[in-house]
Amino acid sequence: MYAVAIRRGETTPSVIEKPTPEPAPGEALVRTLRVGVDGTDREVISGSHGGYPEGEDHLVLGHEAVGVVEDPNGTDLEVGEVVVPTVRRPPVEGTNEYFERGQPDMAPPEACVERGIAGAHGFMTEYFTSPAETLVSLPRELAPLGFLVEPLSISEKAIEHAYASRAAFDWNPSSGLVLGNGPLGLLTLAMLDGYDRTYCLGRRDRPDPTIDIIEGLGATYIDSRETPVAEIPGVYEPMDFIYEATGYAKHAVETVHALAPGGVGALLGVPDSWEFDIDGGSFHKDLVMNNKALVGSVNSGVHHFEAAIDTLAGLPDWLLEDLVTGVYDLDHAGEAFVDDETSIKTAVQFDTL
Ligand code: NAP
Ligand code: BGC
Ligand code: ZN
Repeated sequence: MYAVAIRRGETTPSVIEKPTPEPAPGEALVRTLRVGVDGTDREVISGSHGGYPEGEDHLVLGHEAVGVVEDPNGTDLEVGEVVVPTVRRPPVEGTNEYFERGQPDMAPPEACVERGIAGAHGFMTEYFTSPAETLVSLPRELAPLGFLVEPLSISEKAIEHAYASRAAFDWNPSSGLVLGNGPLGLLTLAMLDGYDRTYCLGRRDRPDPTIDIIEGLGATYIDSRETPVAEIPGVYEPMDFIYEATGYAKHAVETVHALAPGGVGALLGVPDSWEFDIDGGSFHKDLVMNNKALVGSVNSGVHHFEAAIDTLAGLPDWLLEDLVTGVYDLDHAGEAFVDDETSIKTAVQFDTL
């Protein structure tokens, strides 16, 4: 079968051939439909994040998959069931407390592998195997867009954790800001539909398809070249909730200054090392004196996938049509990884239902 992989020492993905996997006891065999691409895949390809499976000369890419159960292999799944796999698996040396208590998303990096990202092959293959409990069932009509479940689940978790940090007092957020107009940022902006006022930060000139989506969602576009994050309260308003999806390390610090008293910022970016000067005293004092919170969040668990499926079902058709700018078959898989200003969310298609 064919797979899309990055080989050691190379900087662009290749289509390679691999044997079709055999499901182990407790695993099902899944026929892959589509696999999405995000900023993390580009970080993996460039070598700034993740890593190869032990002893392997390549990593099969892809962590945002949707597929169909081909062989349930004695599990409770059914042939033809549409499923989305979670990303984390126990490390090579064996399981640990995070997996035993059903919270692999809370594991530190050394206590897990991530399929398609760090230490385990991903889902960009014609077939993959996965333990039945890692396969979340999806309504058939959502199958073509099932590759959006994983990224939506990332935001379900981050929002859950951020809101939990505000659960001890009467918190009624009305202003929400998303930093970043990539696919994660735009999907999250669409999830903030209960807010009175929403904003999204980018660094693009008009006309731009992401700005059209931001405005189509009723949000205000903020250009970081004109208004740095720390100045947003003075130019627009202090924000009750901020979701960082730029991977731009200064935004982690600036988020605190852009929050309203009692506000919370969720940080999602996975930046490289970057040293810069900050006024640590003001950062510390602002957090404390204004009861602000900063929450880091990575990965997601089965219940976040389930919530994401409900969210996906409720997203407007126009948004999904404008967001998904390309679905490429295996012969054109390389185009799914191109990050230019016309492409937003892309996927590689292996098969149809
Ligand atoms: P992406 O496609 O790289 O999107 C990042 C967006 O942020 C881009 O549109 C970029 O604009 C914008 N941006 C970067 N720096 C900016 C700045 N200084 N001012 C304004 N805009 C800026 O990535 P993604 O897939 O949407 O993911 C977003 C981030 O979340 C990435 O860092 C990714 O690694 C991370 N992530 C984390 C998790 C997790 O579990 N924690 C899960 C998924 C993704 P341009 O395109 O114009 O450069
Ligand atoms: C993936 C997560 C993963 C994170 C860190 C994200 O792009 O969606 O599942 O935990 O990267 O590697
Ligand atoms: Zn991802």
